[in-house]
Amino acid sequence: MRYLSFILFAAGLCFFSCGAPAEKNASGIDPFHYEAQKKGVGANGAVVSAHPLASQVGLSILKQGGNAVDAAIATQLALAVVYPEAGNIGGGGFMAARLSNGKILALDFREMAPAASRRDMYLDEQGSVIPKKSTRGASSSGVPGTVAGLFESMQYAKLPFQKLIDPAIELAEKGFAISEREANALNNQREEFNQYNSSASAFHRDIPFKAGDTLIQADLALTLKRIRDNGRAGFYEGETAKLIVAQMNATGGYISADDLKNYQAKWREPFQFAYKGHTVISMPMPSSGGLLLNQMLKMVEDRPLAEYGALSPQSVQLMTEVERRAYADRAQYMGDADFYKVPVKELTRPEYLKERMKDYAPGKAGSSIVTQAGRIQAKESEETTHLSVIDKEGNAVAVTTTLNDSYGSRTVVAGAGFILNDEMDDFSVKPGAPNMFGAVGGEANAIAPHKRMLSSMTPTIVLKEDKPFLVTGTPGGTTIPTSVFQTIVNIIDFKLSAEDAVNIPKFHHQWLPDRIDIEKKFPDSTRLALQNMGYALSERNSIGRVELIRILPDGSFEAIADSRGEDSAEVF
Ligand code: DON
Repeated sequence: MRYLSFILFAAGLCFFSCGAPAEKNASGIDPFHYEAQKKGVGANGAVVSAHPLASQVGLSILKQGGNAVDAAIATQLALAVVYPEAGNIGGGGFMAARLSNGKILALDFREMAPAASRRDMYLDEQGSVIPKKSTRGASSSGVPGTVAGLFESMQYAKLPFQKLIDPAIELAEKGFAISEREANALNNQREEFNQYNSSASAFHRDIPFKAGDTLIQADLALTLKRIRDNGRAGFYEGETAKLIVAQMNATGGYISADDLKNYQAKWREPFQFAYKGHTVISMPMPSSGGLLLNQMLKMVEDRPLAEYGALSPQSVQLMTEVERRAYADRAQYMGDADFYKVPVKELTRPEYLKERMKDYAPGKAGSSIVTQAGRIQAKESEETTHLSVIDKEGNAVAVTTTLNDSYGSRTVVAGAGFILNDEMDDFSVKPGAPNMFGAVGGEANAIAPHKRMLSSMTPTIVLKEDKPFLVTGTPGGTTIPTSVFQTIVNIIDFKLSAEDAVNIPKFHHQWLPDRIDIEKKFPDSTRLALQNMGYALSERNSIGRVELIRILPDGSFEAIADSRGEDSAEVF
């Protein structure tokens, strides 16, 4: 039986004159007056994403009879317009899904190294890393995967593609009001946009942006129309491909017409494991997310976490040591499994994980000099965005997508209006040299033509009694797997409310550097206790922006948008 849906508005953030009369566009959305809903409960469907307008677009698709895959596609396309720092068509990502018929899916639309890539392409003659070459400008871009991913997932959609892309086209063509956060973010990037673009774009201009300004993206609207009319060829061939290649040739990039034409999104075997009576479904290589999550959850499974309590010195220490061990393995063993034999079975074997925890000493800080990657017998082969969707049939979709850091390479394809990723920096450009997230790597994640760079993106679905229980994920670079790990433990072990599970302070350890990153609101008493154990702590701005849907015992959906951003949860 279905229950009457109801909506809870909590901490709604109003960006612009919310009292003013609303003018709805053809998609039934008012792009000039919108607010973030942080929490909602409904029985018919839920969409949580980084931007209120994108969540509204997704919800309108569900209301028109679309399923969760339709809504995820439309939400991604809307994010590519209203959330240009991370929403994208010039980047890539991953989708995890569990359909109502029980089928589970993992779609890899990660960027790929261009054919002209070489292992040392970001090093100078002395073998030193050339500053910014892998993080700024066209040289930093991998072959984008997002549009291929959208079309690959269309086989599970119900509505025609045009219906899913039209809201994005309208938002690009007619514009929407930008928030103060977006205005500030664009203003902060003005210099770099000037530096890495020879022609004007919607994202940089002489007068600073301010909250409420209308952002119109005419070139992007034309590109979206080519995609609407020609499918994936509207991006990977024809005019759009020509503009991308021209941008590469003009500004020292590597992507060729053949790279674009040959790009393929790939269906992967979803990464699956059991945790305390639940089934966790997440991404396999080339994302480290599923494997790290598996290692971390299994290393805490037999420990009395609930007794310790959330954010207590005992639980934070245990989870930190587990994170350290998993990330040491990431640096050594993880990379695109199409190119490098990642020893997944060995790294998840119960005896191996038990052995890894043998030198764990409660009350005493571990060390990343002592703890290195585990020894195995290898016999076998800041800015991203996440959205979570569920529909009334129980189709659950989690998508994490990215340009890498905010506004990616800062290069806008001239005439095509979209920003290119700087994902090449996720490769290990030199063994042991940290990337922008401080992650190190070696052979497993070295650059090779057509290889996909190792990711941390962790779109995740948790089942309970074989039915969807949680749909979640987050941006945050290397902090993504630890944030998803903590969100799951917050719910399953600490029994926190969904809202608290998302919003309580997070912490992060990634082996190197050997320190715990903590958010500002991290409790003082636990800080002190950890320092006394010998840990180095480093306070930082927010960690991640988790989008969570929790399926309640009565079958309705509780959707939580992270309080750390303008993220918004729409339900009905
Ligand atoms: O794939 C990865 O792991 C990174 N490129 C993700 C970047 C990211 O999450 C930045 N967001 N804050």
